Amino acid sequence: MALRTQVGIIGAGPAGLLLSHILHLQGIESIILEKNSRNDVEAIIKAGVLEQGTVDLMNEIGAGERMMKEGFHHEGIILHFDGRDERVDFPSLTGGKRVTIYAQHDVNKDLIKIRLDGGGDIRFEAKDVSLYDLDSDAPKVRFRSKEGGFEEITCDFIAGCDGTQGISRPSIPAGVLKIYERLYPFGWFGILCKAAPSSDELIYAMHERGFALVSTRSPDIQRMYFQCSPTEKLDAWSDDRIWAEFRARLETKNGWAPKEGPIFSKTIIGMRSLVAEPLRYGRLFLAGDSAHVVPPTGAKGLNLAASDAQILARALVAYYKSHRGDLLDGYSATALRRIWKATRFSWWMTSMMHTFPGADEFQHRLQLAELDYVAGSRAGATALAENYVGLPIV
Ligand code: PHB
Repeated sequence: MALRTQVGIIGAGPAGLLLSHILHLQGIESIILEKNSRNDVEAIIKAGVLEQGTVDLMNEIGAGERMMKEGFHHEGIILHFDGRDERVDFPSLTGGKRVTIYAQHDVNKDLIKIRLDGGGDIRFEAKDVSLYDLDSDAPKVRFRSKEGGFEEITCDFIAGCDGTQGISRPSIPAGVLKIYERLYPFGWFGILCKAAPSSDELIYAMHERGFALVSTRSPDIQRMYFQCSPTEKLDAWSDDRIWAEFRARLETKNGWAPKEGPIFSKTIIGMRSLVAEPLRYGRLFLAGDSAHVVPPTGAKGLNLAASDAQILARALVAYYKSHRGDLLDGYSATALRRIWKATRFSWWMTSMMHTFPGADEFQHRLQLAELDYVAGSRAGATALAENYVGLPIV
């Protein structure tokens, strides 16, 4: 059957779902294709720190009710170094802003529900998706539906929101995109454990043994990470060894230690930065992880997906409502300004807080001095805080 829509959206993650819902509220129709099942999309476990702007967006589009109720609203983070804790207070440094800890799969769940309740068209388990005629006025998407038959959708525009492994970016002819990439020589070992939060706020710890992070998921589940070798083996880490490592990296001079509990999930996460430019080829626009990847240190991935979606939605609304193409023409440059600033911030946090293989004592001293400066100077703390709560969308 020949299908037609205004905006074909590839991928039902935060970028695709937000874009679809914002467009819907403006009377613009879209179809979302998602290769995974609804259950799988709702189960992807990823960082969950929502910037103030992402929280505001979720609320503005009517998707924020559960997030406001069940999320943890944090007004600062703790920088842990040299055996001490220093708190960075967000509201006093950023004119009242804060962040909300709410897992990405919960954001996905809420957005899928609101989209489907509003009559949205999301095709889960859409396989073999391919994109055609991207440089024409009628770009097309072909896919095999859950029921097994091949279908084609003719669109005005296509939004590639299908993440790092998606088909959107590779559908752009060779030579069009420039890829900027940095691989970090370490990964994160992440655990989920059954324990009450050790701290009211996230702890980012720098230690000679490596970085560690104490985060949270719910009143009885803690999310924690420690820096490891990128080739580390999960099997090499018994629960006892993991807790000994956390205790070593998190110890303070006044004897603080994290709360421990049964570990029920262990994963290793690679660390890299990547930006593809430009975010457009013909009538295909890239948004979210299909165009850029950040290391998890500043928890920017989901927030960049949200700002891309907002900038792209604004441009599409200007096109349909006011017959203006200039915002679409400017989408890539506008979004990239914010993407590069978040890329810089994630790189900076990563560089300041991790132990690099082969680094000497001089390097370690510089990192300690930088943390001491950031924590001790209003200007230094503000530079961290305003990036962490999220820079404005230009
Ligand atoms: C998480 O809770 O998973 C998390 C929090 C903060 C980060 C990264 C991950 O910077």
